[in-house]
Amino acid sequence: MLFPRHSGDIEMSCIRPDGIILDPEITPEPFPAWQWSPPQEILLTGASGFLGRHLLLELLERTSARVHCVARRPERAREALNNQFAAYGVPETQRQRVTVIEGTLAEPLLGLGAERFDAMARRIDTVFHSGAWVSLVAAYARLQDTNVGGTHEILRFATRHRIKPVHHVSSLGAVISGFMDGCGVIYEDAPLPRPGVLGYHQSKWAAEVLVRAARERGVPVTIHRPGGVFGDSRTGEVRVADWLSQVTGLSVRIGAAPLHDHAMPVATVDHVSAAIVELAARPDSIGHVFHNVNPEPLPFDEYFDRVRAAGCELGSLPLPQWKARAKALPNLPAATVRLIDAVDAIAPPSPAGHPTHADATRFQRAVGSLGMASPDIDVPLISRFLESAARHETY
Ligand SMILES: NC(=O)c1ccc[n+]([C@@H]2O[C@H](COP(=O)([O-])OP(=O)(O)OC[C@H]3O[C@@H](n4cnc5c(N)ncnc54)[C@H](OP(=O)(O)O)[C@@H]3O)[C@@H](O)[C@H]2O)c1
Repeated sequence: MLFPRHSGDIEMSCIRPDGIILDPEITPEPFPAWQWSPPQEILLTGASGFLGRHLLLELLERTSARVHCVARRPERAREALNNQFAAYGVPETQRQRVTVIEGTLAEPLLGLGAERFDAMARRIDTVFHSGAWVSLVAAYARLQDTNVGGTHEILRFATRHRIKPVHHVSSLGAVISGFMDGCGVIYEDAPLPRPGVLGYHQSKWAAEVLVRAARERGVPVTIHRPGGVFGDSRTGEVRVADWLSQVTGLSVRIGAAPLHDHAMPVATVDHVSAAIVELAARPDSIGHVFHNVNPEPLPFDEYFDRVRAAGCELGSLPLPQWKARAKALPNLPAATVRLIDAVDAIAPPSPAGHPTHADATRFQRAVGSLGMASPDIDVPLISRFLESAARHETY
């Protein structure tokens, strides 16, 4: 069965859901039933990325485990982590608990080779899988080795020699078709809907197919689905490559924001990462899906009102005119042009009369019981995000 391609200027994408199969070897048998205990040896993927760097800080702060970070470019990863440690004043005793090992999600056995894969699989007791190729404009075919194959190999790792719980960082993009179809509410417990139209969303959907298949076989997996991950509420640091940062930057350049109807599920990166680590410490969270977002979505137009209140002088334009004006800017990289085309696929408008939001009842109940409040993405915080983006010369 083939799902339809998206017409337009976005890279053509198609997905064959019947080809997404979990190796029969990936099973918790014949090992004894897994029981929660505090992690001592953690494998973390994506540690050099925006969310992964924050996850690492939380793992160092909230556990006493050693953290082994798989990175395809170990030297760059070490530099990114050292910068992060310096920026956040991470003490030497915590830094010493981190090792970076060369590997890649895009190859069998995580590119570690059989001997190293086996040795690591014996040693590690808990996996946090945050690594992915995060490109909203690349086709599924380009992303699948990393995002789908990588998740497959993480699940193989989790069942090799001993059972390890996997905390899989998914995305609300995995269920974006619920927004497109105007299903009203997307519940944490609901079965996976059909995949979306963008290759990235399809790859996150396909990865979840594998993770759910592993769960059905008895592998202890937890699915964390962030929505839009905003910057750090403590430092104002933002992910400048993020699509909303880019749309904001383009809006500043043309002096107008797009008018668009979408309820953005959002949370700050510090809250998302702290919640993942805290939920992992609760045995009753294993096997569940969490919508790792604030209780209330942030409407797209309201976000831009807050950007205005933070001091940006912006008019507004209907989305088609905004796209045309943004694409007319000089010297735009091809990927930015594709991103402009993709705005309504990234943040689908509600079909008339069917505003849809991601329910986060289980997540909110869990973090509420831990006393963790979701930082509000208010005007002062957006003002700090804008300052941080300006420092990166994004706007
Ligand atoms: N940012 C968001 O708004 C958002 C929202 C929902 C879900 N998520 C999910 O959160 C996770 C982290 O996203 P992010 O925002 O931190 O993205 P990011 O900043 O782009 O980081 C991605 C990480 O994955 C690593 N990676 C990519 N390809 C790899 C490969 N072949 N082998 C090993 N590592 C590889 C990157 O390593 P390099 O440094 O070598 O590139 C980087 O460490 C992803 O699973 C994403 O789908 C993000």
